Amino acid sequence: MSMPKSALGRLWIGRIPLALTLFGLPYAVCTSGSRPAVLCSSSHPIRTSQTLRSITSSHCSLSTTKIWTMMSSPVLHVKARCSQYPGSNVRRCPVPDDKVDWSQSWPEYAPVNHTSPVVEKKPVWADPDIGSFSPKFNTLDGNVDRTSFERVYEVRDGKPLNPRGRTGVTGRGLLGRWGPNHAADPIVTRWKVDAQGVKMHHSVSKQPILQFVSIMRKDCGEWAIPGGMVDPGEQVSLTLQREFSEEALNSLSASPSEKEEILKRIIKLFKSSGFQVYKGYVDDPRNTDNAWMETVAVNFHDESGNSVSELPLQAGDDAGQVQWVDVDSSFPLYASHSYFLELVARERKAHW
Ligand code: BGC
Repeated sequence: MSMPKSALGRLWIGRIPLALTLFGLPYAVCTSGSRPAVLCSSSHPIRTSQTLRSITSSHCSLSTTKIWTMMSSPVLHVKARCSQYPGSNVRRCPVPDDKVDWSQSWPEYAPVNHTSPVVEKKPVWADPDIGSFSPKFNTLDGNVDRTSFERVYEVRDGKPLNPRGRTGVTGRGLLGRWGPNHAADPIVTRWKVDAQGVKMHHSVSKQPILQFVSIMRKDCGEWAIPGGMVDPGEQVSLTLQREFSEEALNSLSASPSEKEEILKRIIKLFKSSGFQVYKGYVDDPRNTDNAWMETVAVNFHDESGNSVSELPLQAGDDAGQVQWVDVDSSFPLYASHSYFLELVARERKAHW
């Protein structure tokens, strides 16, 4: 069932103020869902869109941008060495900067072994223990992709070694897969505009301000890109679209006609050639010596502001809250997400 464009516009305008009431707790802990809970604190300033643009035609016209791949940042992982392992009382063996690289000999290294009880219960998304099965590393293992975007990783005593070095913890912690755990991050952006629809510029940098769809993760209360794990055998392009729909738009709670319209716009947006911002290792607090996160982050930008810019944001499936947030270096984000946004801002010549 399709809806006249004007009706759609009214409907979405009506829902936006509701979405903007969803500001809240800078700290949240949640134990629901199929994935284990992560406990971590954050006290982020919350900046949101204060301007609602007028809705004209619902015609979707997205900019086509070049595909550009950044190599992984060579910086040392930091969050992957955070002293307390998330969702547990486990304290990592402290790893000094000069001992991160496996090539540095360190006979005294005594990492803590930790695999979360949730992972040990063998949920569908997790591997069994090494010994009870023999994974094929550095290759496609059935429909589980065990290749790394970084390089061919070393396998020592039957266990894969984190390509970015020591973390102070062995085992899998909260991660399901031995070796790389693949995620995908859709970075959906628009320009911040004033009531007249004119682009707003930052008072200091004088550059136009971008906004992106951000979720507050229920597992740790940190603001993040609405990404998620790539299912076995799934195309990354599908993961990007699925995660955005599930987490940011909560399409499940929308009425059938709303769902149809929202979905149309999302499909159109994700069909446009996005700008591949990053592909590689993620400095994630859940990483261990034997299991780590990798992601593909892709930017989908609504240049004209008449497509996804009008979406009625609300809390979604895995998301505690969702909203448009100004892209700015001072806004702290989960894992390496700030780095991804910096790359987007640079590429689009926006404020950072
Ligand atoms: C998140 C992604 C994130 C990845 C690595 C996944 O759980 O959904 O947004 O990039 O972890 O931190």
